[in-house]
Amino acid sequence: MSQLTISNSILDTIGSTPLVKLNKIIPQNLSHHQFFAKMEYFNPGGSIKDRIALAMVEAAEKRGELKPGGTIVEATAGNTGLGLALVAAVKGYKCIFVLPAKMSGEKRALLRAYGARVIITPIGVEPEDPRSHYSVAKRIAASIREKTNNCFYSNQYHNLDNMELHYNMTGPELWNQTNGEIDVVAAGVGTGGTLSGVSKFLKEKNKDIKIICTDPVGSILYDLYYHGKVVDPPGSYKVEGVGEDMLPDNCKLGLFDDFVKVNDQEAFSFTRKLATEEGLCVGPSSALILVGAMKYAATLTKPSKIIVFMPDSGKSYLSKVFNDQWMVENKLETEENMKAAFNIEVMAEEEMKNY
Ligand SMILES: Cc1ncc(COP(=O)(O)O)c(C=O)c1O
Repeated sequence: MSQLTISNSILDTIGSTPLVKLNKIIPQNLSHHQFFAKMEYFNPGGSIKDRIALAMVEAAEKRGELKPGGTIVEATAGNTGLGLALVAAVKGYKCIFVLPAKMSGEKRALLRAYGARVIITPIGVEPEDPRSHYSVAKRIAASIREKTNNCFYSNQYHNLDNMELHYNMTGPELWNQTNGEIDVVAAGVGTGGTLSGVSKFLKEKNKDIKIICTDPVGSILYDLYYHGKVVDPPGSYKVEGVGEDMLPDNCKLGLFDDFVKVNDQEAFSFTRKLATEEGLCVGPSSALILVGAMKYAATLTKPSKIIVFMPDSGKSYLSKVFNDQWMVENKLETEENMKAAFNIEVMAEEEMKNY
């Protein structure tokens, strides 16, 4: 067990997350590989985004963009908001977050619990549309800045402090944790910061490490990587936090070695398996990344050590992937499967007498 210490604030507990070997979920045909999950829900705000939240705020403070009592504004799928809200609570800033309506109720409630203001925007609008969460966040930030000259629009998609953090922190952390024994790293792209920063660091150490982006069906990134343009127009998908309808500055496609497409059905059924077979109650994007990593691993003959990022916790999705009715209604599982495998039945009074 590592030495236990006292933290000066909750912010000191960000990072140094566990790397956990997957034991039961990997099919027999891939058993010559080893898969390790980077468990980012161990961060205090429950996701990988705590890392960049602290880094972006500290960089803004250094630049003088954010001063005591100021306001932080962000367009977020929820997790960056949670990280920023945590940092803001400790440092005494106000927060406003703009989320597309797709994001789970649990994330909205948690943001409010940290004292943040939450604004919901419609889904299915272009990024440039004035109603998109990007556009609304930008307008709110500009208006507060004009009035107070003390507002930080953290702009996680295009603010390169994001990628820089993963280059300086997450990449070295993985390298040290594995003694450099890594063949493949898989993650998704939300802003691209994780995969780009980690790739830049690891490839400087060992250019043979393969960096795999797992992309949901409906995201445009796969097309941009392989065709240099959008072939299939962006579509909707239910996994949160990964995939894009635009190319963020933090997403450096040249640092990736391959892309694998994964659909909602695959991601959602593996989310349930990760909880019941490995004890890892993670969000659907973690399962999407694992499925993508397994598809890529099937092309490798050499036994490989494969790192799979697991960006957040399943607790944020109890009303979705862990809700049988929601799974059936959204055609992600059949009623029969849900009943057979996961349904929590109320024990009949007659049966109760046996206990
Ligand atoms: C829920 C979630 N948050 C964050 C990330 C990482 O995203 P980013 O590309 O913004 O670093 C991912 C993808 O791996 C994700 O699934």
